[in-house]
Amino acid sequence: MRILFLGDIVGRSGRDAVMAALPGLRAQLALDLVVVNAENASHGFGLAPDMARALFEAGADVLTLGNHAWDRKELIGYIETQPRLIRPLNFPPGTPGQGCVLVELADGRRALVLQVMGRLFMEPNDDPFRSTAELLGKYRLGANVDAIVADFHGEATSEKMGYGHSFDGRVSLVVGTHTHVPTADTQILPGGTAYQTDAGMCGDYDSVIGMEKGVAAARFWRRVPGERLAPADGTATVSGIFVETGSNGLALTAHPLRLGGRLAQTVPVLG
Ligand SMILES: [Fe+2]
Ligand SMILES: [Fe+2]
Repeated sequence: MRILFLGDIVGRSGRDAVMAALPGLRAQLALDLVVVNAENASHGFGLAPDMARALFEAGADVLTLGNHAWDRKELIGYIETQPRLIRPLNFPPGTPGQGCVLVELADGRRALVLQVMGRLFMEPNDDPFRSTAELLGKYRLGANVDAIVADFHGEATSEKMGYGHSFDGRVSLVVGTHTHVPTADTQILPGGTAYQTDAGMCGDYDSVIGMEKGVAAARFWRRVPGERLAPADGTATVSGIFVETGSNGLALTAHPLRLGGRLAQTVPVLG
């Protein structure tokens, strides 16, 4: 299965870049499954339902969220009607929406996509490790599911690596989101799980993690009431990871993707 995962879309520039690039990438990389983190798609904070619909239409199969899941309150009703939009699995019981979705491809193959949120330097949540272990008790790669993608939404690189190794061999891809900066550690772990600590954002990198740099940098110097962060509006880099899996569901190749905008470019080529 050929899988593309894109990191946090930030604001209009991120949305525009992803929606422009996705149809071409789907064809060029013969993608079977596209997963996109969209927690910052609406002006940097949350995801409005019409933007979610537009991203699905542009070629995203599954959208994930994170700590900004409910910044746009309208999403709370929408998520109950759209199973391909998921929020962290380890949000406490009773939270709207689901933390995973089983996607059936046109050819009948099935992929499980899940998201968890870290606990280091993040708001308190249930245990992401135990939540995942419990879910994976029901799904076995190569047996009742063809691929499993896990989005670990977290701040700390250590927690993400600990998670990746914990589920190495049981998941096709573990990829981090939330920091908005792509890490250069794309690899296949010894057990066969593709891994990258953070996918990076789809946004303007002439910014502070996607936000207009003037106000965002000044907030480290002083505190002025009423100053609001807004997304940077320069050309975005589409940032993520591309993975090909074999019949056992484990990764055969893993390659970072950085397309457009300011970052050094890299686009995988099919072998
Ligand atoms: Fe984010
Ligand atoms: Fe986040």
